[in-house]
Amino acid sequence: MVRFATRPLAADPTVEELHAMASQAQKLVWTDVKIPQTNVSVYEALHRRRMSWTFEDKPVNQDVIERMLAAAVWAPNHRMNEPWRFFVIPKDSPVRRKIADAIFEALLDEWKSEKRAEPYREKVLAPPFIIFTYHVADADGFVEKENYAALIAAMQNISLAGVAEGIAVTWDTGRVVRVPAVSTILGAEDNWNMTAMLSIGYAAEESASARTPVTEFARWV
Ligand SMILES: Cc1cc2nc3c(=O)[nH]c(=O)nc-3n(C[C@H](O)[C@H](O)[C@H](O)COP(=O)(O)O)c2cc1C
Repeated sequence: MVRFATRPLAADPTVEELHAMASQAQKLVWTDVKIPQTNVSVYEALHRRRMSWTFEDKPVNQDVIERMLAAAVWAPNHRMNEPWRFFVIPKDSPVRRKIADAIFEALLDEWKSEKRAEPYREKVLAPPFIIFTYHVADADGFVEKENYAALIAAMQNISLAGVAEGIAVTWDTGRVVRVPAVSTILGAEDNWNMTAMLSIGYAAEESASARTPVTEFARWV
């Protein structure tokens, strides 16, 4: 039987509701999950995955986002502590405008330049979906790193699932994730650290990207 614990997230639940859902959620083993069918191989997905900074003005179906998120929680995580938290924000959510304004205001305050701050508002408003990802903080620096690493693995799962769906997922760990007011608006808990903002949509153009061959980085000893 498939139970998508991610489904209620899109309904803009309160933090209390999220807690209630988490405590009720039954754990799944992989054979419980109806794995989405795709012709894209794992290798093809990991080579073809590209971030995009412009998106088509074409809506993304919520089911697509739910499938991508469902893949996120199968990422490895040390101690199985599941340190990921996601805030999914559709384009028409009123929260989107609040966050865009908060980021704009914070950057305007710092830079005193509307011209410089304005593109950040657009960054938040333009994509069909944005997801703010958080990892659970830990006073132990090693655990903190592990939790961050688990989130990055989860974000890569989302990104690779995106390739199977024909969707680009763009990671942003810059200024947009350094405005404390965003966490207040979202209702993030004090011990959650923002990891990234993911911008999700159909890529408007194919990004060129290149890599140095791994032979430059790997030593077989
Ligand atoms: C952890 C991480 C954080 C990133 N943060 C940003 C960012 O803040 N702004 C940005 O423009 N790109 C960001 N990127 C994207 C990369 O800088 C780079 O452009 C991208 O990986 C290249 O595209 P490709 O992976 O599709 O080949 C980030 C990537 C990673 C892995």
